[in-house]
Amino acid sequence: MNTKNSIPMPHDYDDSPIKRIGVLTSGGDAPGMNAAVRAVARTAIFYGREVVGIFHGYKGLIENNLRSLESGDVSNIIQLGGTMLKTARSIEFRTYEGRQKAYENLKNAQIDALIVIGGDGTFTGASIFAKEFGVPIVGIPGTIDNDLFGTDYTVGYDTALNTIIEAVDKIRDTATAHERLFFIEVMGRDAGFLALNGGIASGAEAVLIPETDTDLTTLESLIKSGYRRNKNSSIVLVAEGEKAGGAFSIARQVEKDYPQYDVRVTVLGHIQRGGAPTASDRILASRLGLAAVETLLDDQQSVMVGIENDEISLVPFNKAIKQDKEMNRKLYDSIRILSS
Ligand code: F6P
Repeated sequence: MNTKNSIPMPHDYDDSPIKRIGVLTSGGDAPGMNAAVRAVARTAIFYGREVVGIFHGYKGLIENNLRSLESGDVSNIIQLGGTMLKTARSIEFRTYEGRQKAYENLKNAQIDALIVIGGDGTFTGASIFAKEFGVPIVGIPGTIDNDLFGTDYTVGYDTALNTIIEAVDKIRDTATAHERLFFIEVMGRDAGFLALNGGIASGAEAVLIPETDTDLTTLESLIKSGYRRNKNSSIVLVAEGEKAGGAFSIARQVEKDYPQYDVRVTVLGHIQRGGAPTASDRILASRLGLAAVETLLDDQQSVMVGIENDEISLVPFNKAIKQDKEMNRKLYDSIRILSS
C-alpha cells in the first residue's frame, strides 16, 4: 500500500482556535449521512476537539436542540440509512431573525465552527449565515440528486441509484409478462443524473431528463421500432424535473397516439431516499467527513469538501450551488445505441 498521504497528528492542529465543532444534517436525507456524521465525530475527537450534534438541521439550531457527541454515540450507525441527527427544511432559517437566534445559540454553546451535511439549500443557508455572523462552516455534499458542482459524487447518490435499478428490474418482470410500456418517474429535483444513470444501469429503452428537450416524436418512433423488433416491453425513465410535463402527461399523450400500447406509470418516490448505504456511499461519506474536519482545522471556511478523480476537492459554497454540474451528453446519447 502506498502510504505517502499519511494523516496529520493531533499536534499539527494545535494552532487552530476551533475547539468545539457543531455538526448537522439538513434538507432531504440521504443514505450515508450517518456515516458522514460518524466520520466527523470520530475525526474531531481524534484531533482533540469536542463535537456537538445539532438535531433537526437549522431548525434545531434555532430551537437550541443540541447534544454533545462522544465516540460511542456514533457507534453502529455507519450501516444505517436516514440520519441519527434528524433533518428538516427550515423556513425560519431563511429569515435574518431566525439566523440570529441560531447564532446566539451557537455562541452560548461555545461552538466555534459548523459542519453541515446536505444539498444546495443547506449550502445556500450556510453561505449566508457564514457571511452575516462570521461562523466558519464547511459543507459535506449529502443528497441523492448528485447535482452539486465540484464533486463527482454526492453522499447518497450511489445508494439511490441501486434502489432505482432494483425497482426497475422488478417492474421489468411484470412489464414483460404483460407486454406493457412503463414510464417510471425518479427523483432528482432539477437534475437528471439519477434518471440517466439509472436508465443506463437498468437497460431502459429511453430516458427523459430536464437537461435536454423531450422530443415526443423521437420517443414514439423509438418505442415503435422496439415493438417492431419484437421487444415485448419497454421502460422509459423520466426525471421528476423533466420539462415537457412529466411522466403522467407524456404517458397520456403516448397512449392517445398509440392506443394499442398498454401503458402504465410508476412513481418510485421516497423509496429512493431510504435503505442501507452502499459500500461506495459509506466510503465516500467517511472520506468527506474526515476531510471536512481537517479542512476546518486548516483554517478554511465556506467551502464544500468534494471528490474529484478520487481526490478530495474544496469548492467555495457559491460555486457548488450556483454552477451547473455538467451532464455528460455522450452518455445521454449512448442510450439510443445501448437500447437499439
Ligand atoms: O433533494 C432530494 C430530494 O429527494 C429530491 O430528489 C426531491 O425532489 C426532493 O428531495 C423531495 O423533497 P421532500 O422529501 O421534501 O418532498
